[in-house]
Amino acid sequence: MDKFYLTTPIYYVNDVPHIGSAYTTIAADVLARFYRFAGSEVFFLTGTAEHGDKIARSAEKAGLPPQKFVDEMSTKFSTTWEKLAIVPDDFIRTTEPRHVAAVNQFFQKLKDSGKIYEGEYEGLYCVGCESFKKEADLVKGLCPLHGTKPELLKEKNWFFKLSEYGKILESRITNLEFRIEPEERKNEILSFIRQGLEDIAISRQNVKFAIPLPWDAGQTIYVWLDELFNYCSAVGYGSDEERFAKFWPADLHLMGKDIIKFHCIIWPALLLAIGVPPPKKVFAHGFFTVNGQKMSKTLGNVIDPVAMAAKYTPDALRYFLLREVPFGQDGDVSEEKLRARYESDLANGLGNLFSRLTTLVAQKLGGDLPEIVGSPREFTAAVEEAVTDLRFHDALTRIWTEVAWANKYIDETKLWEQHEKNPKLFGEVISNLVALLLEIAKNLAPFMPDAAEKIRVGLSAEKIVKAEPLFPRIV
Ligand code: MSP
Repeated sequence: MDKFYLTTPIYYVNDVPHIGSAYTTIAADVLARFYRFAGSEVFFLTGTAEHGDKIARSAEKAGLPPQKFVDEMSTKFSTTWEKLAIVPDDFIRTTEPRHVAAVNQFFQKLKDSGKIYEGEYEGLYCVGCESFKKEADLVKGLCPLHGTKPELLKEKNWFFKLSEYGKILESRITNLEFRIEPEERKNEILSFIRQGLEDIAISRQNVKFAIPLPWDAGQTIYVWLDELFNYCSAVGYGSDEERFAKFWPADLHLMGKDIIKFHCIIWPALLLAIGVPPPKKVFAHGFFTVNGQKMSKTLGNVIDPVAMAAKYTPDALRYFLLREVPFGQDGDVSEEKLRARYESDLANGLGNLFSRLTTLVAQKLGGDLPEIVGSPREFTAAVEEAVTDLRFHDALTRIWTEVAWANKYIDETKLWEQHEKNPKLFGEVISNLVALLLEIAKNLAPFMPDAAEKIRVGLSAEKIVKAEPLFPRIV
């Protein structure tokens, strides 16, 4: 059996999950379900990043000891994923002993590689990004993502010789041993590498809530490197070599486009330094805006995924996010757009089709479906190809071509009047439409597990009854 190991970023617990983290995790869940259906041995990993100043400061604001704070916040992530019908195979936390132990081994290996040296860092640091910054990364002196002024650091640090890895990374990326998608992101990374890589600091001097450096207790491990290593620690690095050999390298790291330099440059270089192969592929999705504006708490336009799922169903939120914006591009979302999709595509589209078919079978045929004759319309191959390419938007568009076709067919033939005229033909038509809707449900199952299951159960019953609305009116 093929294995398929896919990951999301592990999310900072300084705040509750937002629509951006929900987006990556929903996409990963769709893929996990898709590959499970296809028979692969899937390992879908998500989790939380819990170390560093950003989190320590949030804990202080909340008036809680850091560990207590991260325990509470991490639970908010795992329960959110449950509410969005997301089922990971594992949920890793960077404060867990299994992760800390693996990171210690990883750092010792790094030290032994000879690629580490002691130095002094003098420069800028954005705590919001937990990242070292250059003047060129700033807009009017501010971090473009957080709108804050980076702090000036001058401290003793340990460094990693990232500068030695430009050529090898470039060749692995161009010969597709290490894939970066979409193409635009790959070009961004390649041009960054071609400008020449600089060595990076791997430790910090005054960050308390982090893992101590194994060989220098006065320093803690730079949180980003601690975090990146979750992908290895979760599959048994340093504790279960057999399991690690089975799942590593990861087949796919999914993330937003803001964190690709960490994943496409630093991460593969670190792995090469310790003799571990880089992941097979990184795919970066775009960023959401809300009514054209950057989503932010200060602007008060943050969309809460839990509230949206509670109001419109988890299935509808999953559908909306993956249908509204082509995966890989930036896009605009809002509750109005979600509601519009809910009404047109779900209630009046899919839901209406299910309800019409079950009603016709129940009323005209006493719930008995005649045997299916003829072959159904073929669209599954196109949907599967789109999902494999991470073109979720195309997959859903293709499925909805079938939904629209079937509804239009019922309208145009006035199917509800045909039983009286030609019962045999009516029976054939209706069973073909039912077969089509079952095929639609099968293709939809990774995206909308609940609705797909309701359709499957409703249409496979011995006696088909008029179904309850799949997507009731929202008041
Ligand atoms: N802790 C790091 C990841 C370490 S992975 C080894 C981190 N955490 S995060 O909580 O900030 O990540 C949030 C994720 O949500 C990232 O993938 C980011 O790209 C994504 N998004 C944050 N805001 C977003 C939007 N407005 N729109 C879409 N996705 C966005 O980074």
